[in-house]
Amino acid sequence: MKSFSIAAYISGSGSNLRAVINSSLRGNISSKVRLVIANKVVSGLDYPKELGIETAVVSREEMQRTEFLKVQIELLEKHNIDLIILAGFLKKLPLEIVEKYSGRILNIHPALLPKFGGKGMHGMAVHKAVVEAGEEFSGPTVHFVDGKYDNGEILLQIKVRLIEGETPETLQKKVLEVEHKIYAEAIKLLEERE
Ligand code: GAR
Repeated sequence: MKSFSIAAYISGSGSNLRAVINSSLRGNISSKVRLVIANKVVSGLDYPKELGIETAVVSREEMQRTEFLKVQIELLEKHNIDLIILAGFLKKLPLEIVEKYSGRILNIHPALLPKFGGKGMHGMAVHKAVVEAGEEFSGPTVHFVDGKYDNGEILLQIKVRLIEGETPETLQKKVLEVEHKIYAEAIKLLEERE
């Protein structure tokens, strides 16, 4: 069974990252989060920092493209990263990284892809669209990342039923609870495949 050195990319509160770290600490997965990269200073960096995991803010706005890429590659290589997880990361990963780590990058999305994905579809916008479409089910998807938004092969999905009077807010809460289980489960599936 494989144990991955994980790098997580985040843009927000990092509750999915926290859930993955906790699964690892409890021994539910054998992989370890070694590096966290954010595109700006966000609260999700606090928990890994407390645990002594290396964190970095790498922002395209603050550096040239070559430097932007070089900083990330150096960090990924320094920690021998062999699995990247996007955990509420709202930017596109540079294509060079997508290609270098092809088949080794996962994303979590809060709806049943291929529905309700694509550019601009993140967070509450997704839940709003699902409720407005009158869907019977939603639920998180963990999928491999390729060059397009929310497009790669699906690894795992869990369905959540919408109830009468469901709002985007209640749906977000329900789906997020499931997200906090499914990401570690998906990593475990990959560990077992190796
Ligand atoms: C999660 O619901 C995740 O599925 C979503 O952002 C949230 C991040 O929460 N990602 C997307 O919408 C990607 N298209 P977190 O920062 O608390 O983990």
